[in-house]
Amino acid sequence: MDRVDGVDDAFIELDGVEKVFEVRRKTGFLKRERRQVRAVDSISFRVERGEMVGYIGPNGAGKSTTIKMLTGILTPSAGRLRVAGIDPSRERTRLAHRIGVVFGQRTTLWWDLPLVDSYRLMHRMYRIPDARYRENLDRLVELLDLADLLDVPVRQLSLGQRMRGDIAAALLHDPEVLYLDEPTIGLDVVSKARVREFLRELNAERRTTVLLTTHDLQDIEQLCKRVMVIDHGRLMYDGPLAGLHEAGESERTLVVDLERELPPIEAPAPARVVRVEGPRQWLAFPAAESAAPLVARIAAEYPLVDLSVREPDIEAVIAKMYAEQAGRAVS
Ligand SMILES: Nc1ncnc2c1ncn2[C@@H]1O[C@H](COP(=O)(O)OP(=O)(O)O)[C@@H](O)[C@H]1O
Ligand SMILES: [Mg+2]
Repeated sequence: MDRVDGVDDAFIELDGVEKVFEVRRKTGFLKRERRQVRAVDSISFRVERGEMVGYIGPNGAGKSTTIKMLTGILTPSAGRLRVAGIDPSRERTRLAHRIGVVFGQRTTLWWDLPLVDSYRLMHRMYRIPDARYRENLDRLVELLDLADLLDVPVRQLSLGQRMRGDIAAALLHDPEVLYLDEPTIGLDVVSKARVREFLRELNAERRTTVLLTTHDLQDIEQLCKRVMVIDHGRLMYDGPLAGLHEAGESERTLVVDLERELPPIEAPAPARVVRVEGPRQWLAFPAAESAAPLVARIAAEYPLVDLSVREPDIEAVIAKMYAEQAGRAVS
């Protein structure tokens, strides 16, 4: 994996990329209706070599369609797309040697074969030099803790084990970029943590470019500095994770424990009480503002026992972004 290119240019480039599906729906006896689904709608972005980027959005947003275009499985209906300078759908085989893909919902491993046999087949398919293959396999087996699983038929692996097996398969040929489409879907907490830890190491040590599609926001919070949000095929946000909070105009919450049950605290706007439960009250205030003045004021005027500040929940932020977008579309 010690490929030296010298140039640190955009590794993935999309320029006004669209994908329109023609869907035929049966509407009655011998009657069919043609409909177009714009799964990806004029998307542009660039990813630099070595970046680890989150690509998130609700179900049906167009994430998998984008990944499929990036691998060459699907051809864009319009726009320009390049990965490592290659047009994926024109030179899919050449590109395949430089990319790795993991689809969380289906395996690239041979179901009936022991795990290691799938790797041997990939060794041949990708014409990986023997020494390189052995070196990579050893490292991946160690990092992904696969030693005890190599002789187990894939069908007998748990979901988390299979996912680790799939990730190793995607990396045997030293790809410069790894696309992961929902890699933690259906995994238990321990397996998720393991996969995340591995991705972090891969990106830090090998500078492998990683594009991570997920609807688990913890994946993003723990792995990606940059996040792109897609909805209805359109890119709604592209920037640092922290900025997503601002984009959602998010609020933080001050949780206040009073000595006794009292009417809602009178706080200076825009801070306000959003919930009261016995002596405990929750106040929302803008995430961008310091909590100090609010805390000082409450401490001066109320019998305070304890308080804590709760950071904005990114899930809520994004839900709000979607709600706002829907609102705009309607009005
Ligand atoms: N092969 C296809 N034929 C017709 N419609 C499709 C096809 N693949 C995806 N779509 C539609 O395109 C939209 C985006 O799908 P997808 O990219 O799978 O979303 P995501 O991965 O974000 O959940 C959805 O409305 C989906 O139904
Ligand atoms: Mg998908």
